[in-house]
Amino acid sequence: MSALTSRPPTATGRPRRGSRFHWTVMLLLSVAITGYSVGQYATGSLETLAAGRVGLASTYADRPFPVQIAFYVHIITAGLALAVGPFQFAGAIRERLPRVHRWIGRGYVTAVGLGAAAGLVMSFFNSVAFAGFFGFGSLAVLWGWTTYRGYRAARAGDFAAHRAWMIRSFALTFAAPTLRLWFGVLILLQVLAGGGDVERMVGQAYAAVPFLCWLPNIVAAELMIRRRGLPGLRLVAP
Ligand code: HEM
Repeated sequence: MSALTSRPPTATGRPRRGSRFHWTVMLLLSVAITGYSVGQYATGSLETLAAGRVGLASTYADRPFPVQIAFYVHIITAGLALAVGPFQFAGAIRERLPRVHRWIGRGYVTAVGLGAAAGLVMSFFNSVAFAGFFGFGSLAVLWGWTTYRGYRAARAGDFAAHRAWMIRSFALTFAAPTLRLWFGVLILLQVLAGGGDVERMVGQAYAAVPFLCWLPNIVAAELMIRRRGLPGLRLVAP
């Protein structure tokens, strides 16, 4: 059997050129996606929103009550994790206000725990059947796991591993913006290729996003971790 471990820390912790610009883009996308995608469900009940064809309301309006609860728990807590997550990567807050970093961090970890559990429940009832079950389901498990590892590393005082795991965790949180970006790109590609029936184009684009929304993110996270000299993942024999 093999185990997933971290390499020894070699982090410099120094900010990179252009990182402020990237951080600002990440923050704006996170806040915009949270505001728009979560906010639309605050404008009415699932039934009324379903009648107006808002988001995924029609998928969840007829689901059992506990699944509807999971839906609301998910959008609120996952939205919170996405909105506060970028602040954890702001060096100024980490260095000058470590207590604020710790409190936001506790909120983030709790929000991810609840959001991932609710997301896992929803993956059994999602709108794209098997692709959604496997894609969103594995995302939920990995999201909870990477965040737990990040929390545990912080508690153990291993801050290089903490940073690496939290980069992985937030790369998965960022699946919410990337899902919507990929969805737009896939629709555009189909339109450029001749278009056709709108429902069919939407269905084809949505079938790809349960995996596409997070697989490239986790590869990007691993590259960032390596560039920063933080502990990477490797498979080792026991
Ligand atoms: C990263 C782990 C995540 C998992 C595993 C996950 C899982 C899911 C699942 C299974 C659905 C239902 C999809 C369907 O029925 O087709 C969903 C919908 C939704 N999720 Fe997540 N999600 C995650 C992250 C987030 C984040 C960070 C946000 C923050 C905005 C978010 C906000 C939403 C919203 C608003 C919906 C309703 C669909 C819509 O209107 O676009 N999720 N999620």
